[in-house]
Amino acid sequence: MRAVILLVSFYGALSQPVENEVLKEFVNGNHKFTAAVYKEILKNEKGNFIASPFSVETVLALTNEGAKGDTSSELITGLSLPKTKDNIQKFFKTFLPKLKKSDEELKILSANKIYVKEGVKLENDFKSIATSIYNSGVSDVDFKNKVEAAETINNWVEDNTNHKIKNLIDPDTLDKDTSMILVNALYFSGKWASEFQSYSTYKKKFFKTKDETVDIDTMYQSEYLSYYENPALNTKFLKLDYRGADVSMTFVLPNAVDGLATLEENVEQLLVTQPLIKAIIEVEIPKFVTETSIKFKPILQDLGIQKLFTDEADLTGLSSSDKNLLVSDVVQKAFINVTETGTEAAAATAVHGVPSSLPPPPKYSFKADHPFLYFIKYNGIVLFVGRYATPS
Ligand SMILES: *[C@@H]1O[C@H](CO)[C@@H](O)[C@H](O)[C@H]1NC(C)=O
Repeated sequence: MRAVILLVSFYGALSQPVENEVLKEFVNGNHKFTAAVYKEILKNEKGNFIASPFSVETVLALTNEGAKGDTSSELITGLSLPKTKDNIQKFFKTFLPKLKKSDEELKILSANKIYVKEGVKLENDFKSIATSIYNSGVSDVDFKNKVEAAETINNWVEDNTNHKIKNLIDPDTLDKDTSMILVNALYFSGKWASEFQSYSTYKKKFFKTKDETVDIDTMYQSEYLSYYENPALNTKFLKLDYRGADVSMTFVLPNAVDGLATLEENVEQLLVTQPLIKAIIEVEIPKFVTETSIKFKPILQDLGIQKLFTDEADLTGLSSSDKNLLVSDVVQKAFINVTETGTEAAAATAVHGVPSSLPPPPKYSFKADHPFLYFIKYNGIVLFVGRYATPS
């Protein structure tokens, strides 16, 4: 029996607008899948986490190009992908090139790579779709040399995530039966349109629970920002834009100190764009780093993707000479670093309506001193989602 391991890794995320029905269909599915994954992660993860369901969608959509029958239909349903392969391809063909941007303000990179065992023959159709639509390279690896093979793949991942994701693959998960590994690396580094000032960062109390606090580095600013308090959800939303593209990070903060669990029952609703207002908001947000490794196989199985992981997997569109191909694992390692600037260089802020005299007093406050969730969106697509609940 042969095994395929799919690996996904990422650091942050984003890019530029695409407008059409295909995008809308993808966005709806992306929100549904993101919410479902979030709920699954909660089963095991009680503290902080960061994940990129989008990265899983990308690498499994590529796998789906070589899947047939129930193996494919389970993938389409479980991932909430657009209904036809044609629309799935249209989406990725338009969107993936936009996930390549590298300038002073904004760096974003999504890279796919397929590693196959020497001798495994990929179908030409699959290879051409992988290259032209998923921008994916293909390389031979000798999996019998586990340590070297893991090093080759881990080096590629490191290079494509600005050295943030290391040791994604444990050599011990490779063996002579491994015939293929699919990897998606997603890297993002952006600067806030409205930066925080380092001198405004102080240790402040964070309520881990109603009764337990811990002092942590908390960033502060008082600026014209996008904000909304949703009375039905009893929750505040704060959207912080990045410079250079239509990308933003939204912080979702329950009014109640211990309100996150209730909020998390409605994750899909939280991903919907809120009727934000622009006002002066007094903001306090922890400065934080989160790194998470997630085993996606049980999550995907819970979401109905089952055949892919069994002998009954039909991946003959990937390789017809390797009829026993199946997926043995899908793992992800993700990392986020939220700081005053996002990156180092400080420059004039872009979206400012600062009056020439003293600023008026803030009308609203967004004080994230208790557990909250967050997501980074690009043009409606959630690239990553996370939760901050327990300061380290
Ligand atoms: C997070 O970013 C800041 C500012 O760029 C940097 O000084 C710090 O080392 C980073 N932390 C990690 C864990 O990468």
